[in-house]
Amino acid sequence: MQKMLVEGGNLLHGKIRINGAKNSAVALLPAALLADSTVAIEGLPEISDVYTLGDLLEEIGGKVSWDGQTVYIDPSNMVSMPLPNGKVKKLRASYYFMGAMLGKFNQAVIGLPGGCHLGPRPIDQHIKGFEALGAEVTNEQGAIYIRANELRGARIYLDVVSVGATINIMLAAVKAKGKTVIENAAKEPEIIDVATLLTNMGAKIKGVGTDVIRIEGVPSLNGCRHTIIPDRIEAGTYAIAAAAQGKEVILDNVISLHLESVLAKLREMGVTVEEQDEQLYIAPKTPLKSVDIKTLVYPGFPTDLQQPFTTLLTKAVNTGVVTDTIYSARLKHIDELRRMNAIIKVEGGSAIVSGPVQLEGARVKATDLRAGASLVIAGLMANGITEITGLEHIDRGYEKMTDKLIDLGAKVWREEMTDQEIEQFQN
Ligand code: EPU
Repeated sequence: MQKMLVEGGNLLHGKIRINGAKNSAVALLPAALLADSTVAIEGLPEISDVYTLGDLLEEIGGKVSWDGQTVYIDPSNMVSMPLPNGKVKKLRASYYFMGAMLGKFNQAVIGLPGGCHLGPRPIDQHIKGFEALGAEVTNEQGAIYIRANELRGARIYLDVVSVGATINIMLAAVKAKGKTVIENAAKEPEIIDVATLLTNMGAKIKGVGTDVIRIEGVPSLNGCRHTIIPDRIEAGTYAIAAAAQGKEVILDNVISLHLESVLAKLREMGVTVEEQDEQLYIAPKTPLKSVDIKTLVYPGFPTDLQQPFTTLLTKAVNTGVVTDTIYSARLKHIDELRRMNAIIKVEGGSAIVSGPVQLEGARVKATDLRAGASLVIAGLMANGITEITGLEHIDRGYEKMTDKLIDLGAKVWREEMTDQEIEQFQN
């Protein structure tokens, strides 16, 4: 088990390349099983969530081969069988096997998915969608059994705007008989990316990117080649790091439009942000001004950047209020930031960040993926050395984070933890 050490105080300077989007990748891989022949997906991030999903595809008979960031998935020998609980629990997105296997085999058996602990994360809207398409869904000893004699298109209104439910219902509906309409659908760029792959496979989908998606089921889907979109959350994380501790940083392979809400907030704080083709230029001016942020569904401010942004606010003059309307309990990073000298009060579900303060290096623990990113940024800003444990969370979603930060001039490295440190970490 490793820990990350960050020696703070160095200004970030230079250019790094942003990877393919994690939250697209984790849906594109299961989606590929719907095809009858090989699907190639290019530009995948090299992160543990992607490899876990590759393993799950192999578990059900898929032939999965990797060529750098391209994966080839040959689904021709796939069979319907229960997925192993251990791997399913490693990540939230294993739930996309429900929709994809239901679409392909009319049945799926899968344990409840894992993923970051961000408070309650129900999947009732996914199930509502599967049932509307004609499936029977039961929970038998912790595994979800989904069975249908035949999937039939239906009109489905989502009571909550959900990325996962929108994608999962799309995965099942592309092969259902007749027309499906998903109302109050989520509009995130990752949903458009998945729909683009499915359309290349021969699916008939209209309206993605709006809140009404219309799908005309087709009997079969073919293999194809697809290039993933850039990761707006990885780009946003480095943009926030650059605003917090940068001189001049260029992020390559970015669709700025996907980040407008975040870039607007950075500009409000006094950061210079320039959008050039597929690049983003970030140069902070000091002192930074505080802003309030409220997370919302796309195109609002993304919940996945709330935690990194909270760290940035510790450096800004005055008080900033952070409210997460998607995951109100996504606040576990705050205790760790307080250990580093941050002044943050939690009141009525909002974090009130007072600044500016000089953060101090400390031993901290990443409790989830984006909490991990927020602590790395804090380490870059802090006096002295910050030791971060819980790296398995960071490795689920950020490819080679230490290398990228080193390329930007940061002093960051990883070390093996001693037995004593592992024991302390686990208690
Ligand atoms: N919700 C329900 N019922 C459902 C589904 C969702 O009540 O059936 C609620 C959730 O509890 C939450 C809200 O609806 O309050 C939105 O959840 P959503 O379903 O959109 O989230 P998700 O699909 O489970 C994805 C990302 C998350 C990201 C959210 C919101 C993946 C694999 N995960 O989760 O990413 O925070 O959308 O944008 O795509 C991350 O990358 O760190 C991460 C957690």
